[in-house]
Parts: sequence; structure tokens; C-alpha cells
Amino acid sequence: MVKIAFNAALAHKGKESPAALKDPELAGAPVSIDGSTGRCLLTLLGIAFILSGLIVGGACLYRYFTPKRLYHGSMQFNDRFPAGGEGQPYYLPQVEEKMEISDDMAVISVPPPRFRPGDPAYILHDFNRKLTAYLDLTLRTCFVIPLNTSVVLPPQDLIDLFSQLMSGSYRSYLVQEDLVVTERIDDIKPLGFYIRRLCDGKETYRMQRRDSIQGGGIVKRSTEDCFTINHFENKFVTETRICKT
Ligand SMILES: *[C@@H]1O[C@H](CO)[C@@H](O)[C@H](O)[C@H]1NC(C)=O
Repeated sequence: MVKIAFNAALAHKGKESPAALKDPELAGAPVSIDGSTGRCLLTLLGIAFILSGLIVGGACLYRYFTPKRLYHGSMQFNDRFPAGGEGQPYYLPQVEEKMEISDDMAVISVPPPRFRPGDPAYILHDFNRKLTAYLDLTLRTCFVIPLNTSVVLPPQDLIDLFSQLMSGSYRSYLVQEDLVVTERIDDIKPLGFYIRRLCDGKETYRMQRRDSIQGGGIVKRSTEDCFTINHFENKFVTETRICKT
């Protein structure tokens, strides 16, 4: 049964091709020069259209999905003494992180620290919008603050830093940063594509440096809910302490 059906299909196809040869349009093609020129132009136009589509599409993909390079590094740091000072303790704490760097942003993945308090987090620096977002993975909450360019190295310098980290253990020092939550952000669209993608569906808050708030240091510590994230995007480790009042 199957064989017969197959043969029948073949026979049907065989009948079709001679019919196509007798197509008056196809038969007339070699004669009519105008027609073939028109078709040629149309084909070229089609190819140009497809190519321009590929170029525009490629540019969009490049903008959003590439060329992200992934780096991995760790930094040992000295809690109390400046780097290289005397009286080194036997054990030095260390911060590990992965960083994805592209032309206009960097995303840092901070794992839970092993021997120190601290939350795992994603930290995103948007160099075009000049914003930094911390996504605390314990609280599942986003915190946004203007990018501090004197702390965060630009992309090319970050790449250089990670290549230095790869060539051996790097000894550094700790800088503390004290941030205070100021208000909730209901509409995260103005924060740009990258932060929107990171903070989508999470509560998002705006922050300020404590020393930039007038009379900011006066809040009673006991009424605050604080947590820390340890990370680096320069030659030193930053301990970011975020407090909600
Ligand atoms: C950037 O960070 C440094 C070091 O923590 C601090 O001294 C400075 O005030 C910060 N700048 C801004 C604009 O917040």
C-alpha cells in the first residue's frame, strides 16, 4: 500500500515538471529582455533589503548581547593595616567575584562570602546612564545609586585589573562605604535597559551616601536594618553597608 502511494506521488510530480516547462512566462523569459532586467533589479533589491536587515539586527544584538567578556578574580585584603604594612595577620580574608564587562556596562556576581558576613549579590554599573544597581540576592531587592566614577574603574581598566588578578594573588585593602535607603522607586523604566532587566519584578529603592545626607549620621543605629556586600571594581575591596531606616 505504502509503495503504491509513493509511486503515485512520484508519478504526479513527474507530470508536473513538463507542465512547468511549458509555462508561457518561463518560455518567454529569454526573449523579453525588459522582463529579465526587471526581475534582476527586484532580486538585487531583495538582497539589499535582507542585507540591511541583517546589519541592523546584528547591530542591535551587538548592543545588547555582546561582546560580554567574563572574568573571574579574587582579592585578598588586609582589614586593619594598609596593604604591604607590617604585622600581617596569618590569615587574610578574600573576596571573590565574576565580572561580565562590555563597552557600556559591567555586571558583577558576588557569591556568598565564606568566612565573613555579607550577602550574595549582583552589582550592575551602567556607564552610559551613570548608575549603579545592587541586587541583593538574600533580600531579592534592588538598590540604585549614581555611579561613583572615582571608585568604579572604566571597562578597559577593569579588564586590565582582572588580567593582573589572574597572574597571582593580589593583596589589597578595605574601603568602607555607608549607604542609606531614601525612597522606593515605583517606575524603573527611566533607569535604562540594563537595570530594568536586572530589577524587573523586584522592589527597588534609591540610596544616598550617608555623608551626603544633612544630619544623616544622627539616626539611631538600633532602628536601622543593615546588611553588607563585599566587592571590588578597583584596586581595593569595598564593603558596602546598606541601611534601611
Ligand atoms: C565616591 O567614593 C569616594 C570613596 O568612597 C567618596 O570619597 C566620594 O565622596 C564618592 N563620590 C560621590 C560623588 O559620591
